[in-house]
Amino acid sequence: MTIVAIVGAQWGDEGKGKVVDLLAEKADLVVRFHGGNNAGHTLVVDSVAYALHLVPSGVLHPGKTSLIASGTVVDPDALLQEIAELTDRGVAVGPDRLKVSDRAHVILPQHRLLDVAREAQGSDARLGTTGRGIGPAYEDKAARVGLRLGELRRLDDFRRRLERALVEKNFLLTKLYGMADLQVPSVEAIMERAKVWAEKLKPYLVDSAELVKRASADGRRILFEGAQGVQLDLDHGTYPFVTSSNPTAGGVCVGAGLPPRALDHVLGLVKAYTTRVGEGPLPTELHGELGERLRKAGREYGTTTGRPRRCGWLDALAVRRAVELCGIDHLAVTKLDVLQGLPELKIATHYELDGRRIDFMPADADDLARCRPVYESWPGFEADISKIRRLGDLPSEARAYLDRLGELAGAPPALISVGPDREETIVVHQYF
Ligand code: GDP
Ligand code: IMO
Ligand code: MG
Repeated sequence: MTIVAIVGAQWGDEGKGKVVDLLAEKADLVVRFHGGNNAGHTLVVDSVAYALHLVPSGVLHPGKTSLIASGTVVDPDALLQEIAELTDRGVAVGPDRLKVSDRAHVILPQHRLLDVAREAQGSDARLGTTGRGIGPAYEDKAARVGLRLGELRRLDDFRRRLERALVEKNFLLTKLYGMADLQVPSVEAIMERAKVWAEKLKPYLVDSAELVKRASADGRRILFEGAQGVQLDLDHGTYPFVTSSNPTAGGVCVGAGLPPRALDHVLGLVKAYTTRVGEGPLPTELHGELGERLRKAGREYGTTTGRPRRCGWLDALAVRRAVELCGIDHLAVTKLDVLQGLPELKIATHYELDGRRIDFMPADADDLARCRPVYESWPGFEADISKIRRLGDLPSEARAYLDRLGELAGAPPALISVGPDREETIVVHQYF
């Protein structure tokens, strides 16, 4: 078994970075296949934390190749900054170790400005985006007016296409969103940066589908690192409160150029409770003291934006939907330690919608917002579990909770995380 996809089974921030880092020890190639620097993946190794946004989470292991594939959107300045910060911390990320697809689309200043301007329009229009320009960059890709990193090889063409694209965006920014002419980006200013991007990034550029094809043909172990989570999927999430790409396992094939049958395993990341950052329905959200307790104990503040995450009980309907949509065969359950000391643990098994009991997530976000969770109660556990490394050593209450989660979700846990550090992990089933 050589090709494994890791996907977030909830609303993002499930601990994908930690688990990818852990599994990367035995992988050859780690690939980001969608999204951009809206992601924030935290790894902790020997109590030292690293926050990654675009660079794949295998980068701390020497000798592994990291790939940012064609389905991603890349903010060149953000990527260069991330490379510089890692280099400063002694993590080598030269072009021999990090490869970036020449087909990945470029996030330009107008995309960030549009993202922020739209979000500032008032509460009705707000999605609570990360403000990184992700949506507008994917819009340009779909509208076939986007610029790709490979075009940095031909700056004359880059300039011509930029001129055309910028006319429309600057019209929106000034006429619709009221920005002054001096505040909007100019072709000259972007071209100045583009020269720097071209010089610094050209050595990293590759045909990413070709690289994946060769690695697969050579029997290499490949790990696909999802960003965000299934409930934020553009097609299958809580639209319109979603991101603009596909975090579902199908996104691996599109975003990396991998044939569907090439995936051997899909590992679904599940936080032992639920969090969401940004707007949109969250049926199991806890507004009072209990929500605050989870936020504090789990340090639930965004890695990318620092925003407090909304917290709630585990939603088995959301996880089961992710299992079904992605063909998840095992779960990796993270942050079980955060539940320590709670007298009672709850899992939503159904919703009540307009007086009816349902066992699925409705497609419409307004319907989902009206859903009231129907809970099952499980006894909590008192002991500190962060030092436990074997499933059998977990308190019986914690095991019962995990068993029930696996049963409701339709996939058993292969890995349980009991702390942020790489070492704080119980491995039940190994892929590599
Ligand atoms: P990602 O976006 O899915 O990679 O997740 P984030 O890194 O945004 O958020 C997960 C946070 O939880 C990070 O700060 C991790 O260091 C931390 N974390 C991961 N696993 C565990 C765990 O088992 N226990 C605790 N207490 N923290 C964890
Ligand atoms: P990781 O990879 C959690 C959310 C935003 C917002 C919505 C759209 O760390 O799990 P966008 O900027 O993508 O247009 O915002 O998606 N969002 C995330 N939430 N984790 C993430 O990534 C997220 N990336 C985007 O908060 O609600
Ligand atoms: Mg995150």
